[in-house]
Amino acid sequence: MTKAHSQRWEAERYIENAAFVPALGLPLIALLAPEKGERILDLGCGDGVLAATIAASGAQVTAVDGSPEMVAAARSRGLDARVMDGESLTFKEEFDAVFSNAALHWMPDADAVLLGVRRALRPGGRFVAEMGGHGNIASILVALAAVLSRRGIEASSLSPFYFPSADAYRARLERAGFAVSEITLFPRPTILPGSIEAWLDTFAEPFLGVLPAAQRLCARAEVADLLRPVLVDEKGTWIADYVRLRFRAVRDG
Ligand code: BEZ
Repeated sequence: MTKAHSQRWEAERYIENAAFVPALGLPLIALLAPEKGERILDLGCGDGVLAATIAASGAQVTAVDGSPEMVAAARSRGLDARVMDGESLTFKEEFDAVFSNAALHWMPDADAVLLGVRRALRPGGRFVAEMGGHGNIASILVALAAVLSRRGIEASSLSPFYFPSADAYRARLERAGFAVSEITLFPRPTILPGSIEAWLDTFAEPFLGVLPAAQRLCARAEVADLLRPVLVDEKGTWIADYVRLRFRAVRDG
């Protein structure tokens, strides 16, 4: 059996190759509509760009992330940031809102996440989040699977991702004790700041990291070759096939 590799998070590499992640999260802050004095938890805060934006509205923000490197980057912005596993949140009725952008799909135990989010909220508190949804990065996952399959490796067991449909996630939210006020699945083709190789280096370690180091560059080039006809536009820009699931839900009771 192939040994699973987890994703390493490096703040500098993230800023270089993934600054679009918080930049594209701004509409979600509009949906959150933070108010002065509110206590807000940012779940999966990354390097803290969006948490800092929320704090600028006058809300009191606590930010958590599973990566000590990302938490250090968030703290360097002056945020109250803590290392915490999103599947084991320890807060109890402390927040008016929980916010999360582009993080929940890295947490496959969705029920454990929702249990912790519900417990973290005061009754009536809101959960506003966006994550990869059904069909997200489908072409990239197929290309990775094809290239690993050429080497006798089954990729499906390596995927750390959870990309639910709107119906499935609505049902999960309701079972967990939330009333869903809106939930939408929509394609959001995403212009990459550089090449697909840089994206793969930043995000595809759970797949390419299982290969012996000497094979990785060649495998990465094969993935890029498969994807070029699908994801590169007429100007030579890489556009990834992101699909977002965005929702607002309220803790009932
Ligand atoms: C996303 O934001 O959808 C995403 C980013 C990196 C890897 C997988 C999904």
